[in-house]
Amino acid sequence: MSRLVIISNRVAVAKARGAAGAQGGLAGALNSALKKYGGIWFGWSGEEAEETTGHLQLNTNDGVTTATIDLSTNDVEEYYNGYANSTLWPLFHYRIDLTEYENETGRGYERVNETFAKSVSLLTEPDDLIWVHDYHLLPLGERLRARGHKNRIGFFLHTPWPPARLFVSLPYHERLVRTMLEYDVIGFQTEEWLGSFQHYCAKELGAEVDEVTGKITFEGRVTHARAYPIGVDWDHIQAQGETPEARQAAQRMLSSTRHRTAMIGVDRLDYSKGLPERIDGISRFFDQNPDRARDLVFVQIAPPSREDVDSYQKIRAELEQKTGQINGAWSEVDIVPIRYVNKGHSLAELCGFYRASKIGLVTPLRDGMNLVAKEYIAAQDPDDPGVLILSQFAGAAHQLTEALLVNPHSPDNLARAIAEALDMPLSERKRRYDILVKTVRDDDIHGWTQNFVSDLKHIP
Ligand code: UDP
Ligand code: G6P
Repeated sequence: MSRLVIISNRVAVAKARGAAGAQGGLAGALNSALKKYGGIWFGWSGEEAEETTGHLQLNTNDGVTTATIDLSTNDVEEYYNGYANSTLWPLFHYRIDLTEYENETGRGYERVNETFAKSVSLLTEPDDLIWVHDYHLLPLGERLRARGHKNRIGFFLHTPWPPARLFVSLPYHERLVRTMLEYDVIGFQTEEWLGSFQHYCAKELGAEVDEVTGKITFEGRVTHARAYPIGVDWDHIQAQGETPEARQAAQRMLSSTRHRTAMIGVDRLDYSKGLPERIDGISRFFDQNPDRARDLVFVQIAPPSREDVDSYQKIRAELEQKTGQINGAWSEVDIVPIRYVNKGHSLAELCGFYRASKIGLVTPLRDGMNLVAKEYIAAQDPDDPGVLILSQFAGAAHQLTEALLVNPHSPDNLARAIAEALDMPLSERKRRYDILVKTVRDDDIHGWTQNFVSDLKHIP
């Protein structure tokens, strides 16, 4: 059986620089995938060094072998804080107002991709399946081909892919996408992001795109682009939900919110997650229903993320200000309506919090998938499930259509959804949950891995 070589910027067990507990959806998903398939996971250690030497650190932890390298401070600045997180991340989340472009960071991005290719070359064997992940590493496949690798190489994008009209605002956009066409298979979270990519390839590159098979033919090379919506590790969540840690977390939540309904949000502190807009929606709900202000406690878990990037510092300051304002306006001596928690929590604790919260509020302005929405459903009590309020702009909304779907830009819409969730009878909560849980359980992480890996192996 061929080995799986997974490559991503972030490796789950490596220390997350400045982001304790906030590794995001990618790391958890790949950990589950590798436990099943075996193989090796390569990426940045999360550590900075004086120089990028490419020295490999090998580790086996919980059945998963990782190989990591340190990056120089300059590489981290240009590649990670710069091109990946100040250019591509905002652009891919439709925020051209926040997208910065500098030639040096672009060069740093290419340089680190070349460094990754060099290290991966030392680790791979000819029949390995190579699976590259996310926006940090778009050109990696092409860099590996340039080193003579004939392996099957696949790529999965965990974020959205923006409409062609936005994507063309990126200088040298064509050069970047041409490198991507060196992959054998390219995966997207939803048909929507896939469609935007296909449209770009047809319109800007003049590639031949077959929408039925996903085949893209360009300058004699063939790649396949398809949608593979990512799922959660159902069994792992069930097991975590049964742990003493989860029970204690649920108990803490329940005993501190007695007689009131707990509503929960769990997000990296990122502007794509719609956090200030969420507070505006809650504020509107209180304004419209002052008599219910005592009924609801909103717990927002928001571990800091990418703290060296300006736009992240700004969103943090904005959120702190808004939370302060609403608490100032609606607190009583014995009540604080919003609990804003700036630190990360384990999955077990989150499972306890999810279960003790009768409303899950997941309202990103744009999100590739959003695993928190699926985890919230997976952690509910089937006999008394909570209500998921979900942004129509999250990839997850394509599958979780029985959630209360909202436009996160509209405080009125959010306020209405909160009222509807609070008043929803048990029979309706169960009806929705039964449909949602089937999707979350049936389309879990193992199916996702299997579908992608099988296409990578077998697509001609
Ligand atoms: N997460 C966590 N601890 C926290 C907050 C989040 O482990 O304190 C995890 C969460 O359980 C989920 C992931 O981070 O698996 C977030 O994934 P999602 O797809 O929702 O968003 P991303 O951060 O990848 O943009
Ligand atoms: C999202 C991205 C991942 C990233 C994660 C956490 O899930 O798609 O690639 O690892 O956020 O962000 P960070 O910058 O801390 O790795």
